[in-house]
Amino acid sequence: MTSEAAYVWTWLPGAVDPVVAGRVDQVAEELRFTYGRSYLGRSDAIPLEPELPLRSGPQRPPIGLDAHGVIRDAAPDSWGMRVILRRHLRDGTEDTAALPLLTYLLESGSNRIGALDFQEAPDVYVARESHATLDELVQAGERFARGLPVPQVFDDALAYSSGVGGARPKVLVVDGDRQLIAKFSVSTDTFPWMQAEAVGMELARRCGVETAPSMLERVADHDVLLVERFDRPGDGTRRSVLSALTLLGLHEIAARHGSYVDLAERIRLHFENPKETLHQLFRRLVVNVLVGNTDDHPRNHAAFWDGRVLTLTPAFDVCPQPRSTGEAAQAMAFGPHGERRSRLADCVRAAAVFQLSEREAQAIADECTTAVYEQYEDVCALVGVGDQTKELLWRRAVANESVFYPFEPVGNRPSATTEAQTFDFEDLVAGETAGQPRQLPRTVGPGTVLQQACGAWMPVARARCALVRGHAGHHRSGR
Ligand SMILES: Nc1ncnc2c1ncn2[C@@H]1O[C@H](COP(=O)(O)OP(=O)(O)OP(=O)(O)O)[C@@H](O)[C@H]1O
Ligand SMILES: [Mg+2]
Repeated sequence: MTSEAAYVWTWLPGAVDPVVAGRVDQVAEELRFTYGRSYLGRSDAIPLEPELPLRSGPQRPPIGLDAHGVIRDAAPDSWGMRVILRRHLRDGTEDTAALPLLTYLLESGSNRIGALDFQEAPDVYVARESHATLDELVQAGERFARGLPVPQVFDDALAYSSGVGGARPKVLVVDGDRQLIAKFSVSTDTFPWMQAEAVGMELARRCGVETAPSMLERVADHDVLLVERFDRPGDGTRRSVLSALTLLGLHEIAARHGSYVDLAERIRLHFENPKETLHQLFRRLVVNVLVGNTDDHPRNHAAFWDGRVLTLTPAFDVCPQPRSTGEAAQAMAFGPHGERRSRLADCVRAAAVFQLSEREAQAIADECTTAVYEQYEDVCALVGVGDQTKELLWRRAVANESVFYPFEPVGNRPSATTEAQTFDFEDLVAGETAGQPRQLPRTVGPGTVLQQACGAWMPVARARCALVRGHAGHHRSGR
């Protein structure tokens, strides 16, 4: 039976029990939200999101959306949708788009991301929870991914663990006071996703990015990345989280229009400590470029919302992506003119977007580059990836040489060649000549790492200087 409405329950800041905030009604193609009278009468009521002011009467979603962003953020994404769809296959429904959003909200688990849940009733709260073990869930997920039958009990468990977005296979698990997202590999994977993400997250940490704690484990013969949930502080309360997609008022299908530039503007206007937050966002951009995480779309950035202010959540889903070519592009543009090319020099040029001077931006890029080069070996050892993955990622996704390319000529700016000629080449590796690249050494370690910058191979420290100098107007580093 298809529902026409759902009651929206919420955990107010600091509360351990949910209250009814209101109701969503399906009206034609959209979900309209109405605050409950009892909720509006509370002294501690907060708007569920900035676009949902506390007032009576139905509120339509912003133009272009079929539901308010906070509601959509609470729904499963492609992985969870497929899990739920499977339960409807016997009704003849074969496409995730054929099920209404309300079905996904009411059939996914209650321990969903953020501080909302959806119920059939306004007076009785029934949590839809899974009590399966991680081992069982991973095995069920593997069968599901391969299109094999999943026993009913695990089918329910998978659905109740699916109150989380994203495309990768994952389940939500509770481990004592800790609440975790368990993202797992499946045998149909052609890339070691979880190992790559474990490396990406740890590299981000080493680069000074506040990152959700994560740990790579082997469970039931699968790589499992356990990520601590930042929306569950561990005291029974739930923190409200809004995706950047919601903050930008965009629908998933328009996600490509979301940019760091627009997010930076929201941060300037609505966030606590906007300047520090912008600097942190720039650092995240630099790390995404450096580690080859080109999947930095607006659902991979988020903010806590306490009804008054927004604060950036820790970083998550920092995953070096498989790359067959050199040059790549970030999912979100970061430059004032839509620049999205995965090059550090372009990031530095966009410094003003993040309220940084170019010199400060260069210092951050430099610091992160050093951290990635100096700590890659250690990071791989710590997270426990083998040589094969270490080699697979290095110089392809992580520290791909193209991210160090200097600017291309634009208008009458000095050309890259002119810039390169102004470099101090005394530190070039003996025997190497500018413009004659050679086979990259595959070994990573102090003193052995070479990288190409501005057309010449050089030790990493010098290459970093080249990055700094690669910008028009900065010909010499202050070494
Ligand atoms: N540590 C965390 N705490 C709370 N929520 C999180 C955390 N990590 C991720 N999330 C939420 O879960 C969603 C899915 O997680 P994640 O982005 O890691 O999955 P994914 O399948 O890799 O995503 P994608 O579709 O971007 O590849 C995120 O969009 C975010 O809303
Ligand atoms: Mg994601």
